Amino acid sequence: MGAKLLCLCLLPALLAYYIYTPLPADLAEPWTVMFASAPFRAVGHLATALDLLGLMHYMEGMRLITVLETVMVTSDEDVTVTHTEFNNVPVLLYLPKRAPEGLRRAMVYFHGGGWCLGDAGMKPYDHMARRVSNELDAVVVSVNYRLAPEHPFPVPFEDVYAVTKFFLQSRVLSQYGVDPTRVCVAGDSAGGNLAAAVAQQLLQDPEVKTKLKAQVLLYPALQALDLDLPSYRDNADKPLLSGPLMVRFWSEYFTSDPALREAMASNRHVPAEAGHLFQFVNWSRLLPAGMRRGHEYVTPSPGSAELAQRYPGFLDPRASPLLVSDALLRQLPPTYILTCEHDVLRDDGVMYARRLRDAGVSVTHDHAQDAFHGALMFVSWPFELAVGHRLFDRFLGWLNENL
Ligand SMILES: *[C@@H]1O[C@H](CO)[C@@H](O)[C@H](O)[C@H]1NC(C)=O
Repeated sequence: MGAKLLCLCLLPALLAYYIYTPLPADLAEPWTVMFASAPFRAVGHLATALDLLGLMHYMEGMRLITVLETVMVTSDEDVTVTHTEFNNVPVLLYLPKRAPEGLRRAMVYFHGGGWCLGDAGMKPYDHMARRVSNELDAVVVSVNYRLAPEHPFPVPFEDVYAVTKFFLQSRVLSQYGVDPTRVCVAGDSAGGNLAAAVAQQLLQDPEVKTKLKAQVLLYPALQALDLDLPSYRDNADKPLLSGPLMVRFWSEYFTSDPALREAMASNRHVPAEAGHLFQFVNWSRLLPAGMRRGHEYVTPSPGSAELAQRYPGFLDPRASPLLVSDALLRQLPPTYILTCEHDVLRDDGVMYARRLRDAGVSVTHDHAQDAFHGALMFVSWPFELAVGHRLFDRFLGWLNENL
């Protein structure tokens, strides 16, 4: 009896202790943020334990997040959803049910999840695609690309590229009643990385005649060269993406070999021969003074040439879109970039916005002072945040005016 009572009192206390995490003062609704991020942390701990015990790969354990959030995606009264394949890659296709007023706009969307997790059928992604389709009378293609580490770089990129290229054919666009002058690519986090890379690659593909109207990059990852930016230093321990987890995602995108992960964790993975590439991610030059937050720039120490030869992906612009020349950037379409203050990826987005603007591209850069990585996902039950709704409405409003 006494033991049971003790348990009854201790359990909520332990749970509260586990859920409680100190958060920056400018994050609103801190308890909702804590409750929303607790499952992510719990799955992270479980995945680490299972990996240590040799029972499964860390990322397989992490996929519990995807499983918990994935829903049965079906049509509703406004939107028809079809599970189909474009160029042998599975996609969810969202078509408005109302009679078209003319040709429609279209968005090709890539979900986030560090190239290793996530699914177009996760509730927040389904919700987002449905609302864009219904409220903008648009066709939405949400891509289920293959994931690392089973399918390392360049497979996830190649899958989203194959889908985009297939969709952009005049024959296919007209089949779905899409206006070829009003198509965009979009994605969040790792999906923003894929969207940026696809937009760049399309410019260099002589077989593609359709030009994108816009690219939408929501807290994107854009470079794997310098993983010690001020945003990595300031936000190593913020929801929902920690610094170590981002390093893990980057390294698993290329290989599960712990040698690369360890080199990346100490920011010693770029060989001396590739040192000239640091000019494209030099934050002492590319971040405005206010965003450097008083941090001191140090050129990362050179890494092993042999490691980079074995896993050259992180030096490839299809994985690190910040690495291309201004001559290529100049040709990119109007761009929307969202960055969040409390996010390790903050500076990637800030630097890309700066480089695109310098190259003459029209850029809308929204920086949310009170937001964290993944905030856009919190727009439906059970975890809703005012900041999620606000960012979502901005994203939708920008698309409505610019697509
Ligand atoms: C980065 O930029 C600073 C100037 O802001 C310069 O002194 C430094 O040499 C640059 N480093 C690299 C590796 O490009």
